[in-house]
Amino acid sequence: MRGVARLAVHPLRQLGRCCSNACIMLKLGGSVITKKREPMTANLKAIKRLAREIATASVEQLIIVHGGGSFGHPLAKQYKIIEGYRDPAQIEGFSKTHQAMLELNKLVVNTLISHNIPAFSVSPSSCVVTKAGRIQTLYDGALTRLLATGFVPVLFGDAVLDSDKGFAVLSGDQLIAALAIMFKAEKIIMGVDVNGLYPADPTTNAQLDLLPHITLKDLKILLNNIEEAKVTDVTGGMLGKISELIPAISAGIKTFIVNASKEDTVYKALEGKKVVGTIIEKE
Ligand code: IPE
Repeated sequence: MRGVARLAVHPLRQLGRCCSNACIMLKLGGSVITKKREPMTANLKAIKRLAREIATASVEQLIIVHGGGSFGHPLAKQYKIIEGYRDPAQIEGFSKTHQAMLELNKLVVNTLISHNIPAFSVSPSSCVVTKAGRIQTLYDGALTRLLATGFVPVLFGDAVLDSDKGFAVLSGDQLIAALAIMFKAEKIIMGVDVNGLYPADPTTNAQLDLLPHITLKDLKILLNNIEEAKVTDVTGGMLGKISELIPAISAGIKTFIVNASKEDTVYKALEGKKVVGTIIEKE
């Protein structure tokens, strides 16, 4: 029980009993916490560094959502989970995708706990049902109580049950936006592996300047431009993922896109310090 005793004195636990307005949402992108090109391989160095950064930041309430990277994505793709349940052979793949995510989640949660963060794993597939891939129900009872007790719930992109097509892939991005709205989050920090948003693909045009601050209107223009140009992977597919955050940004929740692969960026973003990245605001 040594671990529990250590958790009890963590500042997050002391502070986590009050208002829900100060809740911060942190996404740890799969490309940051796993090695993209190596199946089922975590980037333990990055996970440990991020745990250190989270442990040293003073945050009242925190919800972490992590991505799938080389754990969830290859299996979800192999078994065509995103297309829904069409073939009994996919059943095994649905379980395997979820199990792969649980494996990554276990690594993340254990690392957070070893850094005295009162992390608690919550499986999205047990509290979310989607309809045609969009969140239909999200059970908040356990999450509310976890937050009120001082825990840091740690959720993830998952293989989930879908009322229309049997099953679906729920991205951590769609999930974090829904949670941010549900818990009236103060801000969303999207920890990705690029510095933020660019007006076009920075890998093919090195002259492009990072967009430090954009409005929802600017974001929608950027998304439209991509659609018209039929470019699918501008800024590494980032913009498409960020479009999932539109409902939360529309609800007035400030969103920060920052490079979580760079030391201290997540720490500074959690602390509200100035950091390289893109801020997206309603107006
Ligand atoms: C993917 O979640 C989850 C599965 C493939 C099961 P995300 O879409 O949020 O993951 P990343 O951050 O892009 O890796």
